[in-house]
Amino acid sequence: MRNNTKIRILGISGSLKLSSSNSALTRALGGLMPDGVEYTVYNSPGLLPHFSPDIDGDNSPAVVTEFREMLVASDGVILCTPEYAFNLPGVLKNALDWTVSTGEFYEKPTAVISASPLPSGGSKAHLSLMMTMTAMQANVPEKAKLMIASINKKMQGDVITDNNTGEELKTVINELIALIQSKQNLL
Ligand SMILES: Cc1cc2nc3c(=O)[nH]c(=O)nc-3n(C[C@H](O)[C@H](O)[C@H](O)COP(=O)(O)O)c2cc1C
Repeated sequence: MRNNTKIRILGISGSLKLSSSNSALTRALGGLMPDGVEYTVYNSPGLLPHFSPDIDGDNSPAVVTEFREMLVASDGVILCTPEYAFNLPGVLKNALDWTVSTGEFYEKPTAVISASPLPSGGSKAHLSLMMTMTAMQANVPEKAKLMIASINKKMQGDVITDNNTGEELKTVINELIALIQSKQNLL
């Protein structure tokens, strides 16, 4: 492991809703990070224009460049998504589409979390997001995949009130960090 090197993790919520539980979860993850991790939330997926290959490339919009740079600067990414109509919300898919040509997710240690007030835990959105991450060849460890059911009963504001969920999230974080460290050991 590289000594004295901070691990940088970026959290991204797939919801634009002001009272979003996934955005609250994304923020709450910051409080679960161990020492030595610099955790940042990307707050602007809603500012990214609709993806089109016509505006991709050398003259991509500045917000897109900023998003890509934040991904490149991160050792790992945590995605938290709701489920809309049995799939991931368009805003998250749109953000991910902007990285296909430039490959920021290629071999990127990534955690995939879905959270829903329903018992399914957003399983279909999770599956769909996993298909996208597989297409982009992101590195998603098995234990860094989590579906959270009844999320409305497990958080109050930005605080995770359900102990079991807190432990599950710590497992996700630890798996992600272990993968990041194993990659750093190879450098
Ligand atoms: C347009 C729309 C479609 C939805 N479809 C689903 C769905 O297919 N599965 C599900 O579990 N919840 C569905 N929901 C409920 C969301 O899970 C719920 O609104 C949740 O709070 C969204 O996550 P957020 O709080 O992070 O924004 C839907 C909500 C909306 C507004």
